[in-house]
Amino acid sequence: MQDLNELKEVISQIKEEITGGIGSLENSKAVYEFKKNFLDSKNGKISALMKEMRNIPNEQKANFGKGVNELKAWAAEKFDEIDAALKAKEATARYEKEKIDVTMPAVKTKKGNLHPVTQIRNELIDIFASMGFDVFEGSEIETDYYNFTALNTPADHPARDMQDTFYLSPEFLLRTQTSAGQIHVMEAKKPPIKILSPGKVFRSDDDATHSPMFTQMEGLVVDKGITLCDLQGMLNTLVQKIFGADTTTRFRPSYFPFTEPSVEVDVSCFECKGKGCRLCKGTGWIEVLGAGVVNRKVLANCDINPDEYSGFAFGIGIERLAMLKYGINNIKMLYESDLRVLEQINDN
Ligand code: PHE
Repeated sequence: MQDLNELKEVISQIKEEITGGIGSLENSKAVYEFKKNFLDSKNGKISALMKEMRNIPNEQKANFGKGVNELKAWAAEKFDEIDAALKAKEATARYEKEKIDVTMPAVKTKKGNLHPVTQIRNELIDIFASMGFDVFEGSEIETDYYNFTALNTPADHPARDMQDTFYLSPEFLLRTQTSAGQIHVMEAKKPPIKILSPGKVFRSDDDATHSPMFTQMEGLVVDKGITLCDLQGMLNTLVQKIFGADTTTRFRPSYFPFTEPSVEVDVSCFECKGKGCRLCKGTGWIEVLGAGVVNRKVLANCDINPDEYSGFAFGIGIERLAMLKYGINNIKMLYESDLRVLEQINDN
């Protein structure tokens, strides 16, 4: 290069090159690369211009340097501008991409819950524990004596036919009722007694409302001066907690060898409030449990003096309560572990 005129030409060429190239740059990395062609201290076109200084006549050197410096400043500004614009564009694009919609419904997580039979069992235990009952869990294999004989049901007693029994041997059987627990408790402990005995029981019985294995909850209270009225008071509290505050009970005479008198307990229909509906078969009442005043013979079998003490006992079928409470019409639904059924049954 020889003089200022030549420089002017080169400057306008470079400016054109820069303005022409800048438009097609897409990101700040491309800006950086493009910029190197002009401003890199070793290979940049603008930086190279300074080296031409020595060929320029002395009196033009000052203007030449000024011209190159102005070009440098101009180019730097152009690159900064485009770099800032592209960075802003990149940031906006990233914000758009990473935008979170806080109004979007959250992903639902499924929560497991206890089996309906376990829920009712726990609910019953809670209700009775608040009335001072202890829990006694007997064993599922019993002797004939505890399951029947001590409960005033000797071998030839017709009441044995009420419960079709799975015998394991002439002496051992699968308990047909949690009542067997009454004898164990009364043998081990003298009155006052207040126990609940939940557990599985077994009977050779199988249809829509019966299963060979089901769950019962036995209650037993023995003390001085216990009567059927105490039983009714307690059962009213029970059904009100389970079926609602406006339910009540009624007793109908029945027969169990180990209670005298014996009763079937009905709860007023919580569905139709006693008017009569499909659930209560038009009667306004639903049978929920068997109960009675502990037979004197049973107390005597356990060395408790029936002249001094009296008591009441009741036995509740837990599946039956679960079916009534959750509107299930086939007991098998409680054992099939079908999630479509179980997911609909959750009090918690
Ligand atoms: N054990 C009786 C049954 O299984 C129920 C019951 C228990 C009745 C306690 C009276 C007293 O049918």
